[in-house]
Amino acid sequence: MPPERGGDNCQLFILRGIMFFRSKKRKKVTLPLILALIVLFCSIFGWGASLAMNHQSLTAGTKSVDKAVGNFVIGKDLYLENCSTCHIPIPPAVLPSETWQTILENPGNHYGVRIDGIVRFTQVLMWQYLQQYSRQLLKDEPRPKFIAQSRYFFALHPDIKFTTPVTHNTCIECHNRAIEFDYSVTNE
Ligand code: HEC
Ligand code: HEC
Repeated sequence: MPPERGGDNCQLFILRGIMFFRSKKRKKVTLPLILALIVLFCSIFGWGASLAMNHQSLTAGTKSVDKAVGNFVIGKDLYLENCSTCHIPIPPAVLPSETWQTILENPGNHYGVRIDGIVRFTQVLMWQYLQQYSRQLLKDEPRPKFIAQSRYFFALHPDIKFTTPVTHNTCIECHNRAIEFDYSVTNE
């Protein structure tokens, strides 16, 4: 028997199925039924694989911007609802995933204030969104607490000289629609 190769897997599987059931001479289950099951299995498998690939292409390259797609839209909406009442909505990409994790896990101790109304369910959905649109730190790299300590923020601002302190209060100086979660830069 030659080694299996990617695209031929399903045909091979069907063939083997036929051979298996012929050799065992199973009488109770009819061959057409078995074939139908195998074809169903193969198409579900193929469908799953194509879903996974779509997912990859949809999310590839979106780390720096905040166009949430697919399953992440709910998480983004919850994020905006829960995290932009006291300050502007902060784009996930400017902080590492680990910082978002710390924040979400400690709503009772949020930079000296308390965030109410975060239940487990919203926490998980917000985490899925924030994690998807941020990057991880290297192993043993310290977790920045503030945007001003985050190398990811500076990676998004190459060659920009900041004349005012980098905090959520000053984003608006250059991103005049930051309140609407729009961080594109226009020259108006
Ligand atoms: C009850 C008001 C309140 C809510 C709600 C709130 N924050 Fe904050 N947040 C603050 C305060 C106060 C600070 C500290 C601001 C400062 O030091 O200028 C802060 C700071 C931050 C910072 C650091 C900003 C910087 O300039 O470096 C991040 C990141 C942050 N919040 C994320 C979140 C997230 C995520 C949520 C939702 C889970 C959230 N906040 C909800 C009040 C709030
Ligand atoms: C001095 C002006 C200035 C300030 C202040 C500033 N930014 Fe920016 N930001 C820019 C410019 C210019 C770009 C585009 C950079 C590029 O494309 O090379 C940018 C890009 C970004 C991007 C990427 C946008 C995208 O669509 O890819 C994000 C996210 C962002 N900034 C977030 C922030 C946040 C959050 C703050 C506040 C903590 C902030 N910026 C403060 C000027 C600024």
